[in-house]
Amino acid sequence: EFHREPMELHLASDGPFGRFDRQQLQRGFQVYKEVCSACHSLSLVAFHDLEQIGFTKAEVKAIANQWATEQPSINPDTGEPATRKNLASDKFPSPYANETAARAANNNALPPDLSLITKSREGHAAYVHSLLIGYQDQPAELLKKFPDAKTPPSLHYNPYFANLNIAMPPPLAADGQVTYADGTNATRDQMAQDVAAFLTWTAEPKLENRHRAGIAVVLFLLVTTILAYLAYRNIWADKK
Ligand code: HEM
Repeated sequence: EFHREPMELHLASDGPFGRFDRQQLQRGFQVYKEVCSACHSLSLVAFHDLEQIGFTKAEVKAIANQWATEQPSINPDTGEPATRKNLASDKFPSPYANETAARAANNNALPPDLSLITKSREGHAAYVHSLLIGYQDQPAELLKKFPDAKTPPSLHYNPYFANLNIAMPPPLAADGQVTYADGTNATRDQMAQDVAAFLTWTAEPKLENRHRAGIAVVLFLLVTTILAYLAYRNIWADKK
């Protein structure tokens, strides 16, 4: 009863005619890069995929080259583990060497890969948006009813999270946490919406093709239905 459904969220990609708002996806990428990538990965998305949302080849190259976490590699002389800079063809790396390191840095919780998160969670983009700005104090009624349910010090109360206590600390803590390249005012709500839009794209980069195909199919079926009906009228015309 304390768990909440996500707040409504409208994105340009919604509905059968929806197209991505590339400005918004670029802002969402900026949030991912400056905030989320400190803990999460996008193991199904490569740097060069960013060209699809409006970055140039040169920009993508620079983004990959300057990425904070490098790719695991091997020193060719010694055979020792090493790292190398990201290439445009690399996937967005996890900042942790492995699951043990990731859990060690997060009170034993594991930050999930975010590539498909808007598909794998009920509520989709709206869930991600609500989760990011939904942190709050535990309601007094909850503690009155269930005194043992006090949020442990290592967790954070969030009514949009299925079990109410999440290991992720509030990642979007203050307005203006990022300074948008396009000048948009970076309120917490704006940043949460933008990164939710970006993660909708990572989960389904071909969404626009699907929408286009859907419209073509419906138009085709409409025309065929009309033709079939006219053929029927024609064939049975003299049998009344
Ligand atoms: C979990 C998104 C930043 C640590 C999650 C989940 C999402 C998410 C959607 C999954 C919740 C679920 O299981 O339903 C984001 C976004 C971020 C961000 C969009 C940037 C705006 C961070 C940062 C950290 C972090 C900076 C580390 C300081 C975690 C951890 C979990 C998690 C540990 C697992 C929580 C649990 O299972 O209790 N995040 N995150 N996240 N995130 Fe983040």
